[in-house]
Amino acid sequence: MKVIEFAAFGRPAEMARLVERPDPPPPGPGEVLVETLLATINPADLLTIEGRYGVRPRLPAIPGAEAVGRIGALGEGVAGLAVGDAVLILSGATWRDRTVLKAGAVVRLPPGIDLEQAAMIKANPATAAAMITGILPLAGGDWLIQNAANSAAGRFVVQLSRRRGIRTVNVVRRLEAVADLQRLGADVVLVDDGRDAARLARDVVAATGGAPIRLALDAVGGGATDGLAASLADGGVIANYGLLSGAPCQVDPFHLVFRGIRLQGFWLAQYAKAQGAPAMQALFAELIELVARGEIRAEVEARYPFARIAEALDHAARPGRSGKILLTP
Ligand SMILES: NC(=O)c1ccc[n+]([C@@H]2O[C@H](COP(=O)([O-])OP(=O)(O)OC[C@H]3O[C@@H](n4cnc5c(N)ncnc54)[C@H](OP(=O)(O)O)[C@@H]3O)[C@@H](O)[C@H]2O)c1
Repeated sequence: MKVIEFAAFGRPAEMARLVERPDPPPPGPGEVLVETLLATINPADLLTIEGRYGVRPRLPAIPGAEAVGRIGALGEGVAGLAVGDAVLILSGATWRDRTVLKAGAVVRLPPGIDLEQAAMIKANPATAAAMITGILPLAGGDWLIQNAANSAAGRFVVQLSRRRGIRTVNVVRRLEAVADLQRLGADVVLVDDGRDAARLARDVVAATGGAPIRLALDAVGGGATDGLAASLADGGVIANYGLLSGAPCQVDPFHLVFRGIRLQGFWLAQYAKAQGAPAMQALFAELIELVARGEIRAEVEARYPFARIAEALDHAARPGRSGKILLTP
């Protein structure tokens, strides 16, 4: 079988290689053989290969957190799945062209679903849904603010918030990203370079009429975190969930000490553990339904075969993309 593997931590395009490994054995009882159709490249994959993610795998390792595939064979006693079914893969190490998994590690996809959209369900829509409902009890009419709002995660925050009547202030770092977010239903989109927290806070007040904002979602860190802190109402919460700037989160202690702003982290892996498997299965079922109906979506900028993995990884690390990079084994 074909596998993308890395044997040392470092620059992803240099570390990841396409290698040939022995095919997996036929599926045993309760197992399925899945042929991978599409996998995604997410920032977490780049961090994993760089050795900067929350989990450092034993090397050599196969990256990949998301994929869709087709059932190629069924082991004994597997019910509810048939050869040929398209499935969402819930386990990791997805950058391989086939794999044998426990039947419980795949979810059958509805016929006719856009498989590219389905391939992007596991990480970002689930993260967006969990952050807007699981950190603070936001209700319709409440506001949240987020940075890197044109990322896939940010776009799902916009789309899922809108469905719940939650209003969004969206911060991006370049003007070209504004129109697309407005089309998705963003209430406010601001361009900000993360250098002047007070200026961002003034722009937010001007755009929202001074509506109180209790939740900020920070994927950037560095000075960008302080801009969110300055824009929150007293007692608000910043959930940092990304390392995009590579810099430590910076917050003026004034906001923490005198205004009761709290800074905390959010990681889907930990959230999923705390929620338990049945709750996560229900969340994925809801997201699959929304994707199948075309009610939420992410953009794709390019697709690469495994053989062009270095090019694909360089592309995924580039600023100014219009969407995700997909791998087609
Ligand atoms: N904690 C969790 O459980 C969890 C789960 C899922 C995702 N995440 C995180 O969520 C973030 C977004 O992931 P994604 O897959 O949605 O990303 P994506 O679609 O690949 O997009 C990357 C985004 O990051 C922006 N960006 C990159 N460097 C930046 C910087 N220095 N300052 C401001 N913006 C920057 C890009 O802006 P341009 O378009 O201007 O280049 C783009 O909007 C990542 O940090 C990822 O690790 C975390």
